[in-house]
Amino acid sequence: MSIVTVTSQARFPGSYRSSQAASGHDRPLGNTPDTMAPVTEWGRGLEVHCRMTIRWEGFLLLLCGAVALASGHDGVPDSMAWAYLHTATGVALPDPPPDAVIRVAGSPLELSGAQFNAMVDNPDWFPDDHPAMPDVVAKSRPAGGIACADCHLPNGLGHLGTAVLAGLPAPYLIEQLNAFRDDLRQSAERRLHHTRKMNIVAKGLAADDVIVAADYFSRLPARPWVRVVEADSVPRTSIDPDHWLNRALGGALEPIGRRIVELAENEYRMSISDPTSGIIAYVPIGSIQRGDSLAHTGTPQRAACTTCHGPDLHGVGAVPGIAGQMPSYLARQLWDIRSGSRHGDSVAPMREVIRTLKPSEIVALAAYLGSLQP
Ligand code: HEC
Ligand code: HEC
Repeated sequence: MSIVTVTSQARFPGSYRSSQAASGHDRPLGNTPDTMAPVTEWGRGLEVHCRMTIRWEGFLLLLCGAVALASGHDGVPDSMAWAYLHTATGVALPDPPPDAVIRVAGSPLELSGAQFNAMVDNPDWFPDDHPAMPDVVAKSRPAGGIACADCHLPNGLGHLGTAVLAGLPAPYLIEQLNAFRDDLRQSAERRLHHTRKMNIVAKGLAADDVIVAADYFSRLPARPWVRVVEADSVPRTSIDPDHWLNRALGGALEPIGRRIVELAENEYRMSISDPTSGIIAYVPIGSIQRGDSLAHTGTPQRAACTTCHGPDLHGVGAVPGIAGQMPSYLARQLWDIRSGSRHGDSVAPMREVIRTLKPSEIVALAAYLGSLQP
């Protein structure tokens, strides 16, 4: 029996997600091709069509422009593409071998690889560390009704590529679940299936479950989860089929450029849903300080973020806290809101504020906010 040590960026050989998709499990953000919107979804289909029939340039430019306007969102510029990792360039993290022993330091639970691979939902390593999970949070249901904890973890801190829910106000959480259900909240990049999964999950929730889940996550304590590090060069990465970044093997580095590179502190530990192993976000040098001044200083066009999100950015009433949230999530939200993909009445004041925010300012704000104590 092989013992897997959990000290470094260990990786299992083989393919993690492919077997998972075959078994129908979703750990933590597996592909569920049956429930995903087909690529021929009208907006996307039109995008392809527009690219292919380039000869009709003049006419099509007009047509595509008109449809982009009608669909109410502006898409994603190249300078923001790093926040929308929609096309895999690498392979998925592998499943543990059946005879591996899987443990998390300090947890009484011990599983074999075979037991782990056969689980429908992720293991709960520290059941005493959070209130009892209601079924909607802990147990997956048919037809895309994946358990919240499979992606957001039982402690609400969240896997790479999701969002921290712990401690957000219940009325805000309820409103967001309704927005996902009603497609008022979609991704500016429709090929990114992250947000689409939330749309599917929310559409399948009973009204009572929305309240129960929101109550559960709002009562969890917000805790530090992300480590923001300013750097010139960062690990070379590939995009996982589940739309997050994995380190390339071999430890090569590359320049960071003008993006945020967000990774699991330890990819193996993330793959077994170890809730004590968080996220590291590399950000360009100088961005934290720049974000600090942007967040605190308003302009005639834009109120300071602290005006509504509170002096420490921990939220006020139903306005969500944004301190200590995952930077790539924050950046994606800022662009989704700015571009109108996340719309509706409740987000309208926020959209007005960030209408003129530039992608480089979004990077700085996300870096700064992520670096704060939640
Ligand atoms: C398959 C993975 C997955 C599952 C299951 C899932 N979520 Fe999510 N959730 C996400 C991702 C990814 C995002 C971020 C979406 C984005 O970036 O646009 C998110 C975002 C959210 C947000 C928005 C947070 C904010 O700050 O506005 C809420 C609320 C939420 N999820 C609640 C839930 C609840 C409640 C459940 C269970 C009923 C659940 N989610 C199940 C992946 C998931
Ligand atoms: C006029 C008040 C107001 C100001 C000023 C404001 N916000 Fe917001 N913000 C809101 C409200 C209200 C929401 C919740 C929107 C919703 O319900 O969908 C929000 C939501 C957000 C979200 C999404 C949070 C999540 O969990 O998904 C982010 C990120 C955010 N704001 C960042 C900022 C930043 C950065 C600034 C400063 C540049 C800022 N806000 C300034 C009112 C404001």
